[in-house]
Amino acid sequence: MFRNILLSLFPLLLLVECGSVSQDGACSTLGDGLDTAFKFQSDCDDKTFCSGINGTCQERRCRRDEFPFGYDPRDILPALCPRGTFCPDEGSGCKPLVPAGQACQMNRDEQCAPPPNWQMLASNRNFNGSLCLQSLCTVANASLGQHCIADEVAYPATDYKGQQFSNVVIRDNCEAPRFYCDKNAAVCVPTKVIGAQCAEDRECQTYNCNGKGICAEPPEMPFRVPAWQYAITILSVVGGKLVLAMHSSARLTSSDTAMSTTVVMLVLIHKRIRINRYRTIREYYEEQMSLRRSMAALHAAAAEKYEDEHEFYHQ
Ligand SMILES: *[C@@H]1O[C@H](CO)[C@@H](O)[C@H](O)[C@H]1NC(C)=O
Ligand SMILES: *[C@@H]1O[C@H](CO)[C@@H](O)[C@H](O)[C@H]1NC(C)=O
Repeated sequence: MFRNILLSLFPLLLLVECGSVSQDGACSTLGDGLDTAFKFQSDCDDKTFCSGINGTCQERRCRRDEFPFGYDPRDILPALCPRGTFCPDEGSGCKPLVPAGQACQMNRDEQCAPPPNWQMLASNRNFNGSLCLQSLCTVANASLGQHCIADEVAYPATDYKGQQFSNVVIRDNCEAPRFYCDKNAAVCVPTKVIGAQCAEDRECQTYNCNGKGICAEPPEMPFRVPAWQYAITILSVVGGKLVLAMHSSARLTSSDTAMSTTVVMLVLIHKRIRINRYRTIREYYEEQMSLRRSMAALHAAAAEKYEDEHEFYHQ
């Protein structure tokens, strides 16, 4: 499915435009910023950034993606930034992580320095306990009843019929996954249990608010066999064995012990395999979610551009 999305995006991506000034051309850093679809744009082209020192486009000094946009396969790529630093959207060079309360770029949680107790605060809704909310680095440490910030962003998107809709994403600085920020009261409240009514994913402990507005198990959850089914299975096996033993008036033999041991071993091995599988699927899911977020932003940028061109040629 992912391949299909990529293929359908491909013609749109080619239409995404950025600044056209190439190396050593004049530019202004006032042109740096996000467009209405939240894609970074500047006066300079994809391989350069606008240097504020003398107002010219200079070769990019770092990249944030493994495969940065606008480079040919033969091009020499600028370096990725080492740990403890980050590459800003414009690629002007690696910068040290930003402490809480200072400016960061939109959707770039990884620009923020982790708080000292990051291990307690880290979750899949922040980056090592920090996140970039309303362009400021924020620690996700607001707890029950404390004041919090809910940052709401509406990403423009197009559905498969070509209809525009907006994808609203709200992020907050409450300690996840125990609390979420009630946006009306601006205080952290406890997340809801499975079966409770919800309007957004972040309201649920499981981070999954289903189509009916009810907190549900996350989609990657493995199927659970209820305890009573285990009990009935065990009782049937033991019962069958007993009936058989009574009829043939035989005694429990060593082969029965061997059989029980085998069953117990199999159950243990199976359990271990299942845990490993669950872990792998979970990691995969989290990776896909972060990929999906980047794709949504890209798609929105491309769709908007496509819309512009469409209007232009049909006037
Ligand atoms: C602008 O500054 C860069 C280094 O920051 C330098 O390489 C370049 O030659 C300068 N350009 C002009 C026109 O002064
Ligand atoms: C959250 O972390 C910040 C920075 O480490 C700190 O200044 C603030 O007091 C903390 N807030 C709470 C509620 O613990």
